[in-house]
Amino acid sequence: MMMSGAFGVCCFFLLFGSQSKVVFAAECNEPDCSKAKFNYDRENCLGPVKWSGITSCWSTCNGNRQSPINIRRADATYSDIGSLTFNIDLQKAFQVSSSNSGFKTNFKVSEEDIVISDLTQFGLSGNSFKLDGIHYHAGKNNNLTGSEHSFDGEFLPMEQHMVFYNEKYSDVKSASSNSDGLLVIGAMVRASNNTIETQFPGCPPSYHAALSEVLTDSFDELEDYSDSGDSEESEESPISKTLTLLDLLPPDLEKVYTYEGSLTTPPCSETVTWIVMKCPITVSQVAVDKFKSLEVSSSEEVLGVHGNRRPVQRGQQDTTFTLLKNF
Ligand SMILES: *[C@@H]1O[C@H](CO)[C@@H](O)[C@H](O)[C@H]1NC(C)=O
Ligand SMILES: *[C@@H]1O[C@H](CO)[C@@H](O)[C@H](O)[C@H]1NC(C)=O
Repeated sequence: MMMSGAFGVCCFFLLFGSQSKVVFAAECNEPDCSKAKFNYDRENCLGPVKWSGITSCWSTCNGNRQSPINIRRADATYSDIGSLTFNIDLQKAFQVSSSNSGFKTNFKVSEEDIVISDLTQFGLSGNSFKLDGIHYHAGKNNNLTGSEHSFDGEFLPMEQHMVFYNEKYSDVKSASSNSDGLLVIGAMVRASNNTIETQFPGCPPSYHAALSEVLTDSFDELEDYSDSGDSEESEESPISKTLTLLDLLPPDLEKVYTYEGSLTTPPCSETVTWIVMKCPITVSQVAVDKFKSLEVSSSEEVLGVHGNRRPVQRGQQDTTFTLLKNF
């Protein structure tokens, strides 16, 4: 069904379009899943509302447990799910390396396994999840609508995702096709021009100095990224800086929301248990600006032109899914 529809679009342009429009139409529908591309341009045929039709493996992007969501705080149900339990001390330093894989600038932890256990929500008791990487989403220009999740319709400039996969699977890719495969911790990111702690309403004051420095340094290095043609893996550049879990997590890290959702990029797998932190982290305006000036491979444009945030998928109207909180 999907393919015949794509063929129809193709033929319409073949008959009536110019040569350049034929090329354009072909890029909108890619039969080979491994070659499919997407972007965040709202006007483009590769933009967020079209993701499910670009290639057959991405049909889930049209599913009914998609992320991100608008978190209607008053609709969250209290549940005694406990708080996050990590295998290492929150202040233990570990080394990170970074790579620019298109829209997904990824930070990997080396020489340390970071594992979350003791989860009780959504039948996850007894499972352990290992950190695969950390990446960021932002909006365009200086617009505040940069985070993917929102709280009662309000966005922050950026959002940090720490992606974990269930240790019973061999890697993040095989985990992503299993219902209990993935766990993502999302934290909203504020921008600050001062290196002093400032307060977000309802949260303790914070300023993430170490993280700001690591982001600024690594985004500087990644500016020279050029597409190697392999969007899954690209070169990693070691950074001399180290981070701790405290550097990556907001203040009041005991307080979280949780729901069952999906990846926010194709293939939009509906296998993610989301943990969204109640409080944001705060990094320098310089770090946020550097991120937005990165070039992305998928569209050969600067990330800040359209940002890399997917629009909210659920929660704008009546909440019809389970949203829990532990506070
Ligand atoms: C921010 O984004 C909103 C929604 O996309 C848009 O209406 C508004 O004009 C933008 N503001 C700026 C300053 O770009
Ligand atoms: C930081 O300063 C720049 C330049 O004055 C301004 O555009 C930006 O909005 C400021 N950021 C914050 C978070 O105040």
